[in-house]
Amino acid sequence: MHAAAIVAAAGSGSRLGADLPKALVPLAGRPLVCRAVDALLDGGVAEVVVVVPAAQRAQFEAALPTGVVVVDGGATRTASVRAGLAAVDPAATAVLVHDAARPLTPAAVVVRVLEAIAAGAPAVVPVLPVVDTTVLVDDDGLVTDAVPRAPLRRVQTPQGFDRTTLEAAYAGLDADADLTDDAAVVRRAGVPVATVAGDELCAKVTVAHDLVLAELVLRSDDSPEASW
Ligand code: CTP
Ligand code: MG
Repeated sequence: MHAAAIVAAAGSGSRLGADLPKALVPLAGRPLVCRAVDALLDGGVAEVVVVVPAAQRAQFEAALPTGVVVVDGGATRTASVRAGLAAVDPAATAVLVHDAARPLTPAAVVVRVLEAIAAGAPAVVPVLPVVDTTVLVDDDGLVTDAVPRAPLRRVQTPQGFDRTTLEAAYAGLDADADLTDDAAVVRRAGVPVATVAGDELCAKVTVAHDLVLAELVLRSDDSPEASW
């Protein structure tokens, strides 16, 4: 199986509020996007396409390792992944799609996703259980019901796809569609989406607090970078 990966890095990071695009923000000295690329390569992906904000393309090219393909993104994550998909090597039979904003993703999660695709799943997402009591509220904020937690899962990236399946799903999607992940794109096309175990380390950096937590994880005793 020849697996390629698309890293969605074209967002601005408005909720993080840094003076750089979020993917270029350093975590312990290394940009988030570089850490996301490292995990994919360590996990066995053969090639990586990084989708970047057009205005900062040169900064991304300077930060990323050689061999990584850089393409301009779009106004939405969906448009950015669509642009990345067009740049994937025609020889790739599997495509992983990953957020640059998940810098501590373990290679083991990448391996689990690749194994599920190699075993025949057309689409697979890493998931974690929901541990908090989860409720529905009305417009006034009053609790109306509790949601049974057992079947709920939090969905992470990298998400894996049979290449042909992902391309067909994007080809059938409205040009202006804006979905939050790629599993939603293939599910719209009727494709079953399998799950594998995710990892808390795949957490997405969204707000400043997430970056502080990620730095703490890297400083912790059992971190692979504990010497930092
Ligand atoms: N992304 C992208 N193209 C866009 C928007 C988002 O490639 N037009 C990417 C981001 O770079 C990020 C991932 O999609 O790695 C997940 O999106 P999110 O966490 O929402 O990042 P941002 O859109 O950059 O942040 P914000 O919504 O706070 O502005
Ligand atoms: Mg966003």
